[in-house]
Amino acid sequence: MEAKTPSASCTVITDLVLPSETNPIGNLFGGELLARMDRAASIAARRHSRRIVVTASVNHVAFNKMIPLGSVVTVEANVSRAFTSSMEVYMDVWIEDRESGVKSKANEGIYTFVAVDEMGSPVPVPPIIPESALEKERFDAALRRKQLSLLLAKKIKPEDATELKALFE
Ligand SMILES: CC(C)(COP(=O)(O)OP(=O)(O)OC[C@H]1O[C@@H](n2cnc3c(N)ncnc32)[C@H](O)[C@@H]1OP(=O)(O)O)[C@@H](O)C(=O)NCCC(=O)NCCS
Repeated sequence: MEAKTPSASCTVITDLVLPSETNPIGNLFGGELLARMDRAASIAARRHSRRIVVTASVNHVAFNKMIPLGSVVTVEANVSRAFTSSMEVYMDVWIEDRESGVKSKANEGIYTFVAVDEMGSPVPVPPIIPESALEKERFDAALRRKQLSLLLAKKIKPEDATELKALFE
């Protein structure tokens, strides 16, 4: 399979925060942001693999900034690394200042998707070639995150999490 770049899967979804999507103090409800991220990430994983994809794991989400009612929110998703059938998708969430239009980073998240056939069985995906310094940094760290996710899911043993162990040596 021919390798692809992270930018080939780039998916950008921009939408408003409406009253029904807020928490009691008038900011975007966390679960709503998770759903928006899941949609953007699944499209990115589909663009990379050109297969059916399912969310296997939410590896990391940081809710760093509150996102007020009426905000314009942009989720940008890129496949940061492809393994055999799984893909890590990295998302950056931006909000836009109403007057200046300047975007600032609000949150980020990292999900894992698996490409499957019509029966739901995992199928191989193309490899990925990172280009920019940021893409390379995310690519390099993705194996550690995969091992951590598999360890927490009890799908590998601690002694097999070699990349993680190397962090503490
Ligand atoms: C995701 C799913 C296809 C994995 O099936 P499985 O039987 O564990 O398959 P495998 O063990 O062959 O794993 C397939 C890949 O998923 C990866 N994977 C499985 N669980 C993972 C986890 N918790 N974190 C990270 N990666 C995971 C494996 O490492 C493997 O990656 P690789 O092929 O790139 O090395 C299966 O668990 C599933 O269908 N889950 C439900 C998905 C779903 O419905 N999502 C929506 C939630 S509402």
